[in-house]
Parts: sequence; C-alpha cells; structure tokens
Amino acid sequence: MCGIVGFTGKKQAAPILLDGLSKLEYRGYDSAGIAVRNGDKQVEVVKAKGRLRVLAEKTNDGQSMIGSCGIGHTRWATHGEPSEENAHPHCSDDGNVTAVHNGIIENYQDLKDKLVKKGYQFYSSTDTEVAVKLIDYYYKKYEHTPVDALNHAMVRIRGSYALAVMFKEYPEEIFVARKDSPMIIGVQDGESYLASDVPAILKYARNVYYIGNMEIGHLKKGEVKFFNLDGDEIQKELVEIKWDAEAAEKAGFEHFMMKEIHEQPKAVLDTLHSVLKVDEKDNSKKLDLSQVGLSDKDIKGISQIHIIACGSAYHVGVVAQYVIEDLAKIPVRVELASEFRYRNPILDRDGLVIIVSQSGETADSLAALREAKAKGVRTLAIVNVVGSSIAREADNVFYTLAGPEIAVATTKAYSTQLIAAYCLAIQFAKVRGEIRSNQYTDLLTELESLPDKIQRLIDDKERIQWFAAKQVNAKDIFFIGRGIDYAISLEGSLKMKEISYIHSEAYAAGELKHGTISLIEDGTLVIGVLTQSDLYEKTVSNMVECKSRGAYLCALTSYGNYNIEDTADFTTYIPKTDVHFAASLAVVPLQLMGYYVSVSRGLDVDKPRNLAKSVTVE
Ligand code: BG6
Repeated sequence: MCGIVGFTGKKQAAPILLDGLSKLEYRGYDSAGIAVRNGDKQVEVVKAKGRLRVLAEKTNDGQSMIGSCGIGHTRWATHGEPSEENAHPHCSDDGNVTAVHNGIIENYQDLKDKLVKKGYQFYSSTDTEVAVKLIDYYYKKYEHTPVDALNHAMVRIRGSYALAVMFKEYPEEIFVARKDSPMIIGVQDGESYLASDVPAILKYARNVYYIGNMEIGHLKKGEVKFFNLDGDEIQKELVEIKWDAEAAEKAGFEHFMMKEIHEQPKAVLDTLHSVLKVDEKDNSKKLDLSQVGLSDKDIKGISQIHIIACGSAYHVGVVAQYVIEDLAKIPVRVELASEFRYRNPILDRDGLVIIVSQSGETADSLAALREAKAKGVRTLAIVNVVGSSIAREADNVFYTLAGPEIAVATTKAYSTQLIAAYCLAIQFAKVRGEIRSNQYTDLLTELESLPDKIQRLIDDKERIQWFAAKQVNAKDIFFIGRGIDYAISLEGSLKMKEISYIHSEAYAAGELKHGTISLIEDGTLVIGVLTQSDLYEKTVSNMVECKSRGAYLCALTSYGNYNIEDTADFTTYIPKTDVHFAASLAVVPLQLMGYYVSVSRGLDVDKPRNLAKSVTVE
C-alpha cells in the first residue's frame, strides 16, 4: 500500500504533489519521490529515503523543481528495501517512460526474466521498475501510442496496480491504468489531478472520477479521457466529494482501527497470494517459500521451533504452536521475547527461531533475534515492515502484506501473521510427508476461502455492536477456551483491555476451576470461545460451571452449534472452516467487541492511553 499523486495544470506541480503526498503518508512513509516536467524539457526526478519531509527539504518544498506537470509517490515497501534507488518514480533507461505505482506485481520475476532477454537492465529490486520497462517495451513495439502500450502491459501483468505514467513524447500529459488498487481523478478550473485517495486532492478538486478496474485514463489540463482494455473510449460519471479531509484519510470510517478491520480480507488475500502459486503443469495450487528463502532441505532439517514475540504477535505464536505441531509434527515452544532474551535459552542448532513482529522494530523481539543468532540458530522473521531492523537481521523473512497499520491495537497485521504461520505449517507438513497431497490441496483451498468469510463477519458487525453497547459498565471480563480457542481468547482479551480499559483476562477453560473461578460472581461477563469441535463439550461444561456462579455467558462458536443457545445468554457465530484456521474468523467479532465497547465509553480508540504502536525501547 503506497500513495500516488499526479497533476497537470497551470500552477507549479511540485508543491501540489508534495502537499498531496503529505495527506497520503498513512499509506506508506519509508521513502518518496516526484517527477516534474517543464513543457517538453527532460523530466526531472527527485527521490529520498525516509519520511516525506526529507524529500520536501531536498526540493525546498518543491520550489526547486519547475514545471506544471508531474507525478509523485510515497512508499510502503513490498519488493526491495526502502532506499533512494527503490523509491518511485521509476524510469526506462532512455527516460521515455516515467511512472509511479501502488500495488503488487505478482509475476514481476517472470516478466523481468523476459525483458532481460530483450536487453533491458534493472537498477532496483522493485516490481514497479519491471512494469515501467514492460510499458516501454510495448510502447516501442506498437507505434508509440501510450494507450496501446498500457493495455498490452495490463494483459501481461498479474497482481494489483494503480499506475501513473508520463511519456517523453507526450509533454504536459499523464496516463493512468488501474486494477484493484484505488485511484481517483479530479478536474477543477482547467487543471487535472490524480491520487490514490481523496485526502490528497480534496483541497483542489471536489469533482472526481472513479476509474474502474482494467481501465486507462488520459489526463490533459482540465480534461480527462477514459479507455477500456480494447482501447475504445468510455464515458465516466463525475462525482462530487462531500467529506472533510480528516474523514477522507480514514476513508469515511470514524477510526483507523475500524478502517483496518475492514481491510483484513484484502490484507489476508495479498499475503496468501504472495506465496500461493498455481502450478502451470497441472493447475494445482502450491505454496512457494523460495521468496522466504526456505528450501525443502532446510525444512526437512528443522528439529524444533521457537516462536518469539510480544503482545498480539505473541498470540499469533500461540495459535501457530497448535497448528504447526498438529500438521507438521515439529515440537514448538512459544516465548515472550522479554523473557526469552534473559533466559539463556537452550536452543538446538538444527532448530528454527521464528520472530513475529508487525513493526519489525520492537526492542525485545529484536534482542531475542540477536540472542538466537548468537547461538547459531537459523532465524525466520514474520514481519510487516520491509527494511525494518528485524527484517534486515533475520536469516529469512516472510513479509506480511497488511500495509501500514496506524491504530495502536493491531488487527489486519495480526490476521496476516496468522496466514503466514498457516502457510509455514502446511508447507512444513507437506515437505516432511506428514500430510498427503489431497489434504494439502484441501487446506490451501480452505485458506483461499478465508477472506470472503472474514468479509461476511465484518458485514454482520451490527449484532456485535448491539451486544458491546451493553458491556460498557463491565468491571471484569473473562475469555475462556481450550486449544486454539485459548489462543484466540488471549487476543480477544488483549483487544478489550487495550482500548476499553476494562480489566479482562483470558484463561484456558480447564484451568479456571483451579483458582480464578473464585472471581466469578453475579453478572460477571464470561466469553466462551468454542471453535474446536473435539473440545466443544469440554468448554461448554466449563461455561456451565461459571454460569452456576452467576456469570453472564457469551458464546463465540461456528454456525451449526445452535445447542449452545441453551447455555449462553448471547451467542455469535462464525462461518465453518478447518479448525486449524478458526482464529482467523473468531478474532473478528472479538476485535469488533473491543472496538464498540471502547467507542461506547468515548475513548480514543486509535491512540489508547499508555500504549505505543511499537515499543523500540526496553
Ligand atoms: C505493542 C503494540 O506496542 O507491541 C501491539 O501496541 C503489538 O499491538 C506489540 O502487538 C508488538 O509489536 P510488533 O510490532 O512487534 O508486532
């Protein structure tokens, strides 16, 4: 997830591009760049690593770049570390094509190999440079018409993109192409604007076009034409935007947390698609961990696994322990990083240490990584930030594609980390011969169904909102479950604590009667998580034990388990799925519950007290 902008008009472009990018930094902020053209002079490109202010300083807030046509980009690295070289805009060697891109080119390696055979060279490790040179290739192959070059490239590119492209032979004009990644185009007072999102151009234009999927746009000053993939011109409706800037940044949601909850289906799909490949030979699906850097030989040699993390990332580790042990039969130990780093742990040299971290900068997790490396054990990081310290220092990295996460309480990053853990578990099981091919295919097919099932849970949020509103005065809340349900309870309880400030605890349901049940009294809210069919009855009886002490019971279980309504006071259901993947669905109602209780208590959902998005100090 990056932010792109573009402008062609009467005013100087650079200040407008920088201003627009400053409104899109929530989409990515590890590097930035702009390209500006003064009439038919050579395009000028300036890029900088780091926050946008570095680029602003480098261009004297845009004053040093002359020209009334330009494109700009603020980056969230997915392919290639944050660096000036990998920053956008990217250009073809002869400067014929200059472009910025938001999205992921899934087949960029294949395309790159083909272009190298055509004599193209590459200076960056980005997928975008491949798209630029592919467009240049077709531009030169098909009579120099930008629309033709774009639609030929679009047919061959697999993945998602919003591209803004300047062609040397078309000064003062910008061409755009879109598939899945957002883009809007504004026209106002003889000037034309483009951006990934409304906040970037709201100050300049309130009348916008929404370019559709697999469509191309041609921007001239104050005029825009649209084309379909066949190059035929198409008409688009001009829409007036009514939002204010702040609402626009949250895409109309009241809080970043709710926006990020809604982004989970796409984040999960993107992360899965980063390693799920279709075998051209027999069209079967398979996981390809080559990008992660783990060979089958490496996987066969793993003797044990340690998963180490903090906060919600640690809770992903607890889920992963159950899934990896059950599918791949490898012993797994989950550790809190702040404990692991001082415990002088005994690690087997043939073991694997997995560090899970959204930010990749959490001090305790980084120290744990260094501890494991010092003991000569291979380290694999599951990380959301490309180029972060943990990503740079780990031997192998599985990048999650959640995009920037602004709200302190993680949601979409947690969900993508689960997907990464499932993919590792399934591939380890397959390579080590613990599961048969049909099981492998069934598990992958079930993984692919998760984004839609998550979307259904999000669409059904009002029911959770109704229930949550009744819990605003709760003093204590207990989440209980067994196996993976215990791991889910840990995350549900943390979400509630983090943002509603209500005392909440998660408990292994079978452990309750060994002490904590003494805290249950009339009206104490107990939330039972029951997604594991083989543990269902056991957990029901633990809930009944609580009820007999006066607890108010809420049950979270799979559709079909309707007999729970005889026990629970309120029940919410999740779509059926493979029990190994239940956490990906069950966490959604629990995220929503924490969110709505926090909102009902009038609290700062996105920036809860005493917490930080990433704790980079010990
Ligand atoms: C906390 C965040 O500071 O750190 C949590 O508030 C997060 O949401 C935890 O789970 C670990 O952070 P990270 O970046 O290492 O996953």
